[in-house]
Amino acid sequence: MEQEYKIITSDGLEYGPIGASTLKQWYLEQRLRTTDKVFRYSDNRCGHLRDFFDVDSWEHVDIIQPFLDGRVLILVGDITKQRVDAIVNAANYTLRGGGGVDGAIHEAGGPEILAACEELRRTQYPEGLPTGEAVMTPGGRLPARYVIHTVGPIKGVHGARDAELLADCYRHSLTLAVRQGLRSVAFPAISTGIYGYPRDEAAAVASQAIADFLTRDPSLQEVRLVFFTQRDATTFLQYQVFPRTG
Ligand code: APR
Repeated sequence: MEQEYKIITSDGLEYGPIGASTLKQWYLEQRLRTTDKVFRYSDNRCGHLRDFFDVDSWEHVDIIQPFLDGRVLILVGDITKQRVDAIVNAANYTLRGGGGVDGAIHEAGGPEILAACEELRRTQYPEGLPTGEAVMTPGGRLPARYVIHTVGPIKGVHGARDAELLADCYRHSLTLAVRQGLRSVAFPAISTGIYGYPRDEAAAVASQAIADFLTRDPSLQEVRLVFFTQRDATTFLQYQVFPRTG
């Protein structure tokens, strides 16, 4: 059976129960906005319309769990589709693209991103971007305005410094976002693909680094952690160390 939702518009009008196909139709008719509140009857989950659906493709995005008073959202989806101020790229030191998330971001965002990366290489990082550092470029054709490129550690290469370097990726990416005055950032699970960082260990490191940053800095409103599969998200939820309350 189709999921049913209640909608509370910004004018305070309530509609429901209505199905996803009606929501889509109403959105296309401009009767609803992405910021209208949505309540899903099946699991009592609340959020904005954009938290349940990617309204461009009308793909289901589904936020599976919020932390830190909703400032951190865990979801299953494609990082290139996130409508946030910046998405983070799990890049390599060359900043010239690659496979995985890196390839997907360059493909979806187009040549403007690579051109900006080349310029950064020429002007600031002739030897390449060091592991744990982050830089920002425009988002090209992506729904996100910016891409923050960071280089995660290749598991095992840096010995005891692996965790510190992975934490640096999150910290430096968030610092750049705040400096640019951004409010929302989406991360993939850095280093957990080609770079071989075990997902359970990475979950603890990433969540600790993000929690430390957000509790010190009030300006960022939304940090999304976007997992490609439900299974990856479930592993993350099992090993994350976000504070239970607050
Ligand atoms: N959206 C969200 N997550 C994705 C997507 C996507 N479109 N594509 C892949 N992932 C997930 C993977 O499942 C993995 O958990 O992103 C995580 C990071 O995987 P990689 O992209 O392989 O990144 P990483 O392990 O940091 O390796 C970086 O890969 O492509 C190269 O140039 C890149 O050399 C660098 C290396």
